Amino acid sequence: MSRLFFSSSRSWLALILFLASCGAFTVAQSTPVDANGHPWWQHAVFYEIYPRSFADSNNDGVGDLNGISSRMSYLHDLGIDAIWITPCYPSPQVDFGYDVSDYENIDPMYGTLKDFDRMVGEGKENSVRVIMDFVLNHTSDQHSWFLDSKSSRSSAHRDWYLWRDGKAPGHPPNNWISIFGGSAWNFDPTTHQFYYHAFYPQQPDLNWRNPAVEKEMLDTTRWWYRRGVAGFRLDAVDMLFEDPELRDNPVLTGTDTLGDPNMEDKYNRNLPEVHEELQKLRKVADESDAVLIGETWTATAAQLDRYYGQNGNELQMPMDFMFMMVDKLSPPEFRRQIAAVDGTHGWPVFVISNHDRVRSYNRYGDGKNNDAIAKLMGAFYLTLRGTPIMYYGEEIGMENNDPKRREDVQDPIGRTGWPAEKGRDGERTPMQWNTTPNAGFSTTRPWLPVPPSYKTHNVESESKDPSSILNLYKKVLGLRHSNEALLEGSYTALNEDDPNVMSYLRSYKGKAILVALNMSATPQKAVFDLSKQGFGEARLQTLIASHAATTKGNEVALEPFGLLIAEVGR
Ligand code: NOJ
Repeated sequence: MSRLFFSSSRSWLALILFLASCGAFTVAQSTPVDANGHPWWQHAVFYEIYPRSFADSNNDGVGDLNGISSRMSYLHDLGIDAIWITPCYPSPQVDFGYDVSDYENIDPMYGTLKDFDRMVGEGKENSVRVIMDFVLNHTSDQHSWFLDSKSSRSSAHRDWYLWRDGKAPGHPPNNWISIFGGSAWNFDPTTHQFYYHAFYPQQPDLNWRNPAVEKEMLDTTRWWYRRGVAGFRLDAVDMLFEDPELRDNPVLTGTDTLGDPNMEDKYNRNLPEVHEELQKLRKVADESDAVLIGETWTATAAQLDRYYGQNGNELQMPMDFMFMMVDKLSPPEFRRQIAAVDGTHGWPVFVISNHDRVRSYNRYGDGKNNDAIAKLMGAFYLTLRGTPIMYYGEEIGMENNDPKRREDVQDPIGRTGWPAEKGRDGERTPMQWNTTPNAGFSTTRPWLPVPPSYKTHNVESESKDPSSILNLYKKVLGLRHSNEALLEGSYTALNEDDPNVMSYLRSYKGKAILVALNMSATPQKAVFDLSKQGFGEARLQTLIASHAATTKGNEVALEPFGLLIAEVGR
């Protein structure tokens, strides 16, 4: 049933809802659906905000919640339906908020719970829902639970974390390596045991096998749902459980950028228990019609598929990072990846950038045609079948601004791994609002410097330029929200042997949109025979196009990195 369960076809859904109402089978998805049978998040466009860097209302150099509130109408006008805010809970900020010291409050640097409520209210006024980031694998080492846990072997919270004796004096319990470098075990002299941390030593892993931890965390999600959040992005979900026997991981050849031996994370990642836990989190989310987005690193479509759950009872939106990892403009690779996620039981979730990866502007850009390529990528992933999650600044072509000197680095891994690993500062710089100093983000020196390109790539200047990246994004998002073929339609790859032009049809109820994207640096022509799709000789009516794109009958001519989105006529 599950393949059909997620089908975008109205008739199948009508049938399923009918069968469900007859009690023929249980429908795990309880979210209210729209007239076309979709829960809200399937038609929504999500936007990731790194709160330190979006808008600084009190001019202390760090962004805040009131800053986000003040930009809610910008988000609405852009075409955003939901924002995911990376962690803004109280935190010592070792990992910039991914080290939480209190799950039910706001860090004073970002504001107060009142400011949070105001932001949710402002969001409602602008039809923008708020998604929180839930850091459930680990806490900060300054969280009261951990402080108590480390205080003595018999403390009330001792078993909330993973404490073990070393293999021998001075030797950790096993060979597991932290994602941020070095052994994943830290020795604590107070109680003479090691604790486990998948990330920084200041981020001890919670023991999810302890029912008290599970209860507390599930209750935390309820607490935020009651406060009006529309869902969570779940951090590092694949790391929640560890092998109870703590077996050594198999060692592979070579070393990583932090100098550690490569390893297969066989015993501390992706354990089957993760899925049981996701089902529980989902049950609670369903009580509030909330959506769960997953930070789901997968190597295969089958792994991604599992995250949806066997009856659609785990994550509604596991992010497809395999798509994001196609780092070059390669139609064959993109086709393969889209076909793979289309073959899962779930609704695809497309992302091209986030706060942990070099910005798409640089990853896909060739250094000469980056603006054209940024538009091409926007026209691409925002017209696929699925829900996109944008990253702030992508819509204006923000570029990475990597630190030039080790002493300027803020992200700890950038200091440990310098110069091979410069850390993630480059993709987290302040949002570029206008041409004033610090790009209008703050009147004080911001926590990270803006790149020189802010003079041309900023919201104010691009709003006035009809051919800007921002206006292309607005047009595509506008079309996406109003065109049924883009909202509901199936995806069919076209001209699959073409190595340069990525093209596809989104069709729904006899109507179709054709998207053609020249991913090469040379002019290209593409001819479309859509008779198999029921359109005979296609007549294309341009809706959105790059400046030199032309159509003649069923033929499209595109300049280097040109794009065309057209309605297909009979
Ligand atoms: C994934 C987050 O995206 C990343 O920024 C963070 O450092 C780790 N999880 C640890 O929480």
